[in-house]
Amino acid sequence: MQLNYHQDILEIVLDNPPVNALGAASRRQLLEALDSADANSCVSAIVIRGGGALFSGGADISEFDKPWLEPGLPGLVDRLERCSKPVVAAIHGICYGGGLELALACHRRIASPAARMALPEVLLGLLPGAGGTQRLPRLIGARAALKMMLDGAPVDASTALALGLVDLIAGDLAVAALEMARQAATDQIRRTGDLPLPKDLREAVLDARENLSKRSLSPAQAYIIDSVAVMDELFSAGQAVEARLFTTLLATEASRGLRHAFFGERKVARIPGLSKEINQRDIKRVGVVGGGVMGTGIAIALLNAGLDVTIVDLQPEVRAKAESTIRTTIQRDVNKGRIDQRIADARFAALCIADDLSAMSRVDLVIEAVFEDIEVKKKVFTALDQHTRPDAILASNTSTLDLDVIAAFVKNPSRVIGLHFFSPANIMKLLEVVRGRETAPELLVAAMAFAKRIGKVGVISGVCDGFIGNRIFEEYLRQVYFMLEEGALPQQIDAAMEKWGMAMGPCRTMDLAGQDIGWAIRKRRAVQNPERPYSGIPDRICELGRFGQKSGKGFYLYPDGRTAQVDPEIEQLIVGYSDEFGIERREISDEEIISRCLLAMINEGAKILEEGIAYRPIDIDMTYLLGYGFARERGGPMFQADQIGLPSVFEQLNALAQGRNGWAWTPSPLIGRLAAGGESFESLNQ
Ligand code: 3HC
Repeated sequence: MQLNYHQDILEIVLDNPPVNALGAASRRQLLEALDSADANSCVSAIVIRGGGALFSGGADISEFDKPWLEPGLPGLVDRLERCSKPVVAAIHGICYGGGLELALACHRRIASPAARMALPEVLLGLLPGAGGTQRLPRLIGARAALKMMLDGAPVDASTALALGLVDLIAGDLAVAALEMARQAATDQIRRTGDLPLPKDLREAVLDARENLSKRSLSPAQAYIIDSVAVMDELFSAGQAVEARLFTTLLATEASRGLRHAFFGERKVARIPGLSKEINQRDIKRVGVVGGGVMGTGIAIALLNAGLDVTIVDLQPEVRAKAESTIRTTIQRDVNKGRIDQRIADARFAALCIADDLSAMSRVDLVIEAVFEDIEVKKKVFTALDQHTRPDAILASNTSTLDLDVIAAFVKNPSRVIGLHFFSPANIMKLLEVVRGRETAPELLVAAMAFAKRIGKVGVISGVCDGFIGNRIFEEYLRQVYFMLEEGALPQQIDAAMEKWGMAMGPCRTMDLAGQDIGWAIRKRRAVQNPERPYSGIPDRICELGRFGQKSGKGFYLYPDGRTAQVDPEIEQLIVGYSDEFGIERREISDEEIISRCLLAMINEGAKILEEGIAYRPIDIDMTYLLGYGFARERGGPMFQADQIGLPSVFEQLNALAQGRNGWAWTPSPLIGRLAAGGESFESLNQ
């Protein structure tokens, strides 16, 4: 923390890069600075601003699972408000969470035009715990404050000014803040905590409860409303409730899961063992081979990120469809007010659609998204080898084929990498970055930076059948299908998993993805891995031509093409199958469904770690959170394993291995080792 004296004004500069988080050391220094300024008769006013690019990212989230260190943030913020000298918050860049709560306790606030303010604690399953629920409604009204706290979204400087959250916007913030402090020194101090209760308190609380109960209310949202509802003329009374609710939320699994996801999203970007010296590649022009659904989605994602895109497809009708889908999707963004027409026109101008791979001669990166057939890939990569610059990166979007075999089709396999997008590619956040045996390390660095550039989170996977995501998904599905033959029905399994936290149950997911795709994979695996059979139920369904949503029926009926309807014919088929194979159907509880699905994911995840396919458990968790609809507050399968406790996971796996189809449950030795050593998956995330 820096202290600068400008005659009688003390300027305190928060200095805790990268985001000026208000960790213990910063809090202690700030408290000392305030105490000494209060006692110093030469100081008549104080300015607090952030060093670097922002004011503050809030409380230090990494401290939340550790014992609290004094001074606590709420106490510090109160001390600041009680300061006998006026304090001005000079806000530039980000001012979030505890950072904004600090600013709320200042006596005046001035912001730069590009400042952004938010109370995003709800996104971590928390409420603002440093007086935010009590001060913000007093300052800007209960309705506006509840909105900010319940959605956690930032407001820009002009909105903040209109709301009364800041008093002034100034281009030359440092100078204007000193000027404001000088003026404040001659005025009476205005303390936010002393403001009267907001007039709209009762009405805003009732409306918030009513509106949110119509959707599902998270515990953090419920507590935010409760904390505002108890606001009292006596500030400390409301604050005590806020503190109690904050502590309660902090201990919930949901908040721990959300914080795990917050740090995970950032941790996966770091590639273990790679030197920071590796040069970044500048990727500006990208080629996409194949104009089908996947290629089109990828192209939209690239255009949205401001890249030049060349799509090559041999079929004129595919090219025409790709172009019209891209234009419609981008134009829809204009119609919805997300972008203006100028940006859309620039995106159209950045698109080129060609019928020959010679159009790839200038691109920095090619992403192949053609049919999943090794002979087709061979043709494409052999041609790309001739038509691309020798230093261009060649990426395959394959989800099932061996990347090392594909890499061998080009003279220099070190320039081949896997970029596995998830459909719809312009929406889904996950990008599996697959490192082949020969892939050059600098390509991994380039691919991770590229993922970020196009608004995705890259997770690195080694080469194996299904990579991280689909390999685990196969074990999950295997148990789902076994449970069908043992007594469960698709609607029961889907309902149990959706209630638990999957965005979509497994049977509905397969209907959406296309049952024929799963069928083809099962047929291939039946040859490659005959010792690991599946239940025959999904094959029977495919034999009826029920390929899911696209054919109007799969596990369910889709009369309108989208909405799943239970089909008695499927129940008959499943029960008939059990009878045919002499499997005695039994009641399967929702708890058993959840537990078996989760244990199957955890066990396969652990095997993936042991084989070095995933670097860390967090890579598996992020794959599931971002690509497979695993609820963020559940933290991911490996986080869940730690919540259950690895000794218990190991014991349950061993018990299952003794039961029906026990071969599918051979416990991962890694789980056994970690359990015996009293360790967790989290300990492998460092
Ligand atoms: N505490 C601890 N570390 C934080 C942090 C925080 N509040 N905010 C960011 N970081 C860390 C990140 O983990 C990352 O670390 P790494 O380099 O080791 O991976 C580093 O700071 C940089 O973060 P980003 O990569 O996210 O940087 P960006 O520039 O893209 O974004 C940001 C900056 C907008 C501040 C973003 O980091 C963010 O949204 N942070 C969280 C903000 C938040 O939720 N604040 C509320 C905290 S809870 C609170 O204040 C409780 C209070 O009410 C009592």
